[in-house]
Amino acid sequence: MGGVDSNIGNTVADSKTMALDSLLEKVYRSSGYDFRGYKRGTVTRRLERRLQATGVKTYLEYVQFLDAQPEEYERLADDLTIKVSGFFRSPYTFQQVARLVLPELVFYKEDRRQRALRFWSTACARGEEPYSIAILLGEFLGHRLRNFDISIYATDISRHALHGAQAGLYSLKEIEGLPPTILGNYFTHRGEGYAVDSNIRQMVNFSYFDLVSTTTLPFVNLDCVLCCNILIYLQKQLQERVLGMLYDSLATPGYLILGEVETPTDNLRGRMECLDIKAKIYKKTGRTL
Ligand SMILES: C[S@@+](CC[C@H](N)C(=O)[O-])C[C@H]1O[C@@H](n2cnc3c(N)ncnc32)[C@H](O)[C@@H]1O
Repeated sequence: MGGVDSNIGNTVADSKTMALDSLLEKVYRSSGYDFRGYKRGTVTRRLERRLQATGVKTYLEYVQFLDAQPEEYERLADDLTIKVSGFFRSPYTFQQVARLVLPELVFYKEDRRQRALRFWSTACARGEEPYSIAILLGEFLGHRLRNFDISIYATDISRHALHGAQAGLYSLKEIEGLPPTILGNYFTHRGEGYAVDSNIRQMVNFSYFDLVSTTTLPFVNLDCVLCCNILIYLQKQLQERVLGMLYDSLATPGYLILGEVETPTDNLRGRMECLDIKAKIYKKTGRTL
């Protein structure tokens, strides 16, 4: 009897998986948003929220809803992406970027009389991460800032988040915890919150870029790439592909920074030197390890 029950259970699970597969396939074909390689647990939980919000009961009904109201694709993409972030979100990582990466990188550039410093924040949400890097560079370089041409590219698939990032306005809650000197030197009190100063804003270029569905690199020859708190939402195979692409976008030497709970895939681990395992800082050296 147990065998029959478990067969029925498996069949139900299989048909749910197939319904989810075809829903994600449809979303990809009709909108370009590609959630097929995201971890299924998060996708399923977040989809349930859309089902409830739209008042439909099954994936099939939801497909019909999407056909009738295509603007739902944007809402779905917005709900499927988690946009939690913060200034200097992993303080230890930023501390180690200032201690290990910036002195080495700046020495390398000065030694070769190169002015360009190129960073990429690959899932920048509302801008806290790229602005934190810009502030860190301001703190580290001080008056030497003017000796460099700094570009911090910041991309995301959430147009809504990018819009907020470009505005550079943050509530009191969002800047909570920033040291008063940082607040005083790089922000201006505006309305109910704070605005990032223009000398910091002008270092950062925001644009739309989908890490998953694009295979051509938007930037190359980068000194430092941050890919924080996005890999955790992707299945292993997709993590491998994204990290391979980011590796190719780095110059040699170049630095890759991951989120606190993220690790490079096996393939990448053999190609990058780990500078600090806790801070998740890796260096492309051009040598196979
Ligand atoms: C949890 S936030 C991380 C923000 C920041 N990197 C940090 O660590 O604080 C994840 C971000 O990844 C973005 N995202 C999700 N899928 C993406 C994709 N395929 N391409 C680019 N960004 C993506 C989301 O829109 C969201 O802003």
